[in-house]
Amino acid sequence: MANYADFQIGLYLAGLGGELPAYPLTFAGLEAAAQAKMEHRLWDYVAGGAGDEHTQRANVAAFERWGILPRMLSGAAERDLSVELFGHRLPAPVLMAPIGVLGVMTDDGHGDLAAAAASASSGIPMIASTLMQDPLEEVAAALGDTPGFFQLYTPNDREVAESLVRRAEAAGFRGIVVTLDTWTLGFRPRDLQHATFPQLRGACLANYFSDPVFRSRLAASPEDDPGAATLHWAMTFGNPTLTWDDLAWLRDLTDLPLLLKGIGHPDDVRRAKDEGVDGIYCSNHGGRQAASAPALELLPAVVDAADGLPVLFDSGVRSGADVIKALALGATAVGIGRPYGYGAVLGGTAGIEFVLSCLLAEADLTMGLNGYAGIAELTREVLLRC
Ligand SMILES: Cc1cc2nc3c(=O)[nH]c(=O)nc-3n(C[C@H](O)[C@H](O)[C@H](O)COP(=O)(O)O)c2cc1C
Repeated sequence: MANYADFQIGLYLAGLGGELPAYPLTFAGLEAAAQAKMEHRLWDYVAGGAGDEHTQRANVAAFERWGILPRMLSGAAERDLSVELFGHRLPAPVLMAPIGVLGVMTDDGHGDLAAAAASASSGIPMIASTLMQDPLEEVAAALGDTPGFFQLYTPNDREVAESLVRRAEAAGFRGIVVTLDTWTLGFRPRDLQHATFPQLRGACLANYFSDPVFRSRLAASPEDDPGAATLHWAMTFGNPTLTWDDLAWLRDLTDLPLLLKGIGHPDDVRRAKDEGVDGIYCSNHGGRQAASAPALELLPAVVDAADGLPVLFDSGVRSGADVIKALALGATAVGIGRPYGYGAVLGGTAGIEFVLSCLLAEADLTMGLNGYAGIAELTREVLLRC
């Protein structure tokens, strides 16, 4: 059983020898340090979101409106944060959410491999995006014994979608996460102001350019004519006509656990359940897609409608306390997004490991100091609207 709280003891002890932490401890600190380091358009792409960005600010504010009820003398000196997910025992109820530009966020331009290495060392699963700088097979090989999940953006070419899923299965991913909220791009003023979008410049398209079916659609290979290959990607990336009628096809694509990301309405949860999906991923994409979409506020009703199906949640998780709150509202596990992305910017694998260690230490201590020894004790009754 991992003792995540000890991470802080290590930091204090290192301080006795004059050593200071290598990276900022808070989200605000990570954000500021990442901004100072990043090329300004890439920074805006990662930090920015839809419209006036009130949606992503609201994601964070939603967590601040909940307090955790403290229980004393309850014997919570030893905690167990582990959870079961699709037959895997995870050391903690946390995953790395897919970040489709991670590849170009590290100094070496291999951010997906950096995240995979951090996943291997920490045991925290990575949900690998369709949009990666290295092909999914190489990323899967770097995951070690940690289960990984593949996130699918469903292209409007069904055979390319099928090929990506086959490759993810063959590479050893343990589940497919289909993102539904990005059938077209959200209105993102920062990116529009720069008139730039990383993938349109050919970044993070390795899964497409290495795909035999995608390549078969091109007159010239991506190596010979990257511009034409990128244009073909742009024409086929989104799938505006995808509807519930296509879900049977998606379900039949794989025997792996199938999750739908971007679900927020209880009726959609019930429909997904009827169609045989294995898990719901409640998220508003970090406020990058539909403006004014709530996230945390939707979680309890999503969990109720899921009626026992695993529910993942992300959007606005900035601290270990946030992780505990999402679990108390019923999430089975919680996706970390921008925080680990900034860790990748600052220190690659080591930066991601540091951010995850901080989050898990804080989650562990928040549980313990409030008197809860296990995840099962985190129910809605432990939260207080403040
Ligand atoms: C720069 C960036 C790229 C993203 N790329 C993807 C992606 O490729 N696929 C996907 O399903 N979600 C993607 N997301 C959404 C995340 O998976 C997650 O829902 C979001 O980051 C949660 O919000 P938060 O980071 O503010 O907590 C991306 C988010 C960011 C910030």
